[in-house]
Amino acid sequence: MRPTRFATEIGWLLQTGLIVFIVTPTIGIINGTKIFGTLSRDVLLTHVHSGTLGWITLGAMAMVLWLFGPAVPASKDRNTRTLAILSAVAIPVYVAAFFSGNLPARAITGTLLLLVIVMWAVFAIGAASGIGWGRLSVAQLAAVLSLVSLVIGSTIGVLIQIQLATGTKIFANDAVGAHATAQVSGYLVLMSVGLIDWRLLGDRSRRTLASNVMIGALFLGGLCVAGGLLLGLIPLAALATPLEILAVVIFLIRVAPSALRTPLRSGSARFFAIAVPFLVTNIVLTVYLIVTIVSSGKPFDQIEIPFGLIIGLDHAIFVGTMTNILFGVLSQATSDRARVWAWADQLVFWLLNAGVAVFIVVLITGATDLERFTAPVMGLAVYLGIATFTLRLRAQPEPVTVAIPA
Ligand code: HEM
Ligand code: HEM
Repeated sequence: MRPTRFATEIGWLLQTGLIVFIVTPTIGIINGTKIFGTLSRDVLLTHVHSGTLGWITLGAMAMVLWLFGPAVPASKDRNTRTLAILSAVAIPVYVAAFFSGNLPARAITGTLLLLVIVMWAVFAIGAASGIGWGRLSVAQLAAVLSLVSLVIGSTIGVLIQIQLATGTKIFANDAVGAHATAQVSGYLVLMSVGLIDWRLLGDRSRRTLASNVMIGALFLGGLCVAGGLLLGLIPLAALATPLEILAVVIFLIRVAPSALRTPLRSGSARFFAIAVPFLVTNIVLTVYLIVTIVSSGKPFDQIEIPFGLIIGLDHAIFVGTMTNILFGVLSQATSDRARVWAWADQLVFWLLNAGVAVFIVVLITGATDLERFTAPVMGLAVYLGIATFTLRLRAQPEPVTVAIPA
């Protein structure tokens, strides 16, 4: 599976994502092993955003270009290339601003990045209108709504930055929680559902009433949790529970048979199959968290939220779902260069997935002593994946042998 248009730009976005991703496990391993003690908030936020923006969002932008590229008129080629370049510059700069801890720099570069993110949403909406909303594939529809959620979540993020940089009070409630949930339960869950459907079902994927309900429920569910946290309205957050449950059931009916049939022994498709249980883990733990909050009967500011559970469900989608999906896409896109570091394929797949599964269990059960073993395993698998796919992206495709008749 290769992109039919904008292959160069898609390659740039994925390659930049791979480079920025080196930062994430580096900080993750230092944090998990505690070799430098407790890390500062600036370093932790660099870990978070080098992963969410540097790796996942640059990858998601590449996927949006792949999905909508064929619908872009030739007159827009230059604009599209400019958008890809702007993204590959704005995201690393913003991640560096987090590391610097300079609040005005974070606010300014965050605002510039928000503009780039809005351009992606406009790009996808324009391309979708050109194709016709009824004719969009499941992945295309999910990607458009996912980008709308990304704009909402990033706007909250930028307002937090402005709040911090200027010392003014814009939000009365938990805006960081609202930002994080809009990005994870809104943007990332929708993006993952669409990409898994696309890659696992291929030509068998159909837009049906059920798939429309699934996408609509996930979009509204993300808005309800984020809105509930932002406005301090527990009943609004509670509304997300039935929506998320309905969506996850439809998702499983659609993709579970294909995921179960996919062999885990070898091949690129196994990355998409294994992403399914991690995505379900994220949604089920989110529902469990909301139910715990709602049934406590206390106002938000008095509820003790289990931190390990939140970080666990976060890594389920960041590493278990999105990293698997993007590694799977890279593995398929470079399949004609699979000879490069062929020995690494099994190690990347098994170390990453065993590492993240145990990491999540450790976080949820509170056995944090074991983090110093599980974080390096997951981190080494990520490093190996970055090196392998970078080498393959840069390698020449296997020469094709053509038999010349005598
Ligand atoms: C896309 C990739 C990733 C993202 C977006 C991500 C995000 C996060 C977030 C949001 C936190 C919570 C930060 C806080 O304390 O406020 C965190 C903590 C952590 N992450 Fe990651 N992470 C990613 C990958 C990794 C990897 C590959 C490793 C392993 C090397 C790792 C290891 C850790 C550790 C050890 C913690 C601290 C857990 C604790 O406080 O008990 N992360 N990460
Ligand atoms: C323009 C884009 C973005 C902006 C402006 C932004 C801004 C922020 C800010 C200001 C914070 C809180 C900082 C603090 O507590 O001092 C934050 C935290 C966080 N952000 Fe973002 N962010 C962006 C993109 C994203 C994306 C795409 C994701 C996920 C897919 C994400 C996930 C998170 C998470 C999980 C936290 C909470 C970290 C923790 O407390 O452990 N952010 N972000």
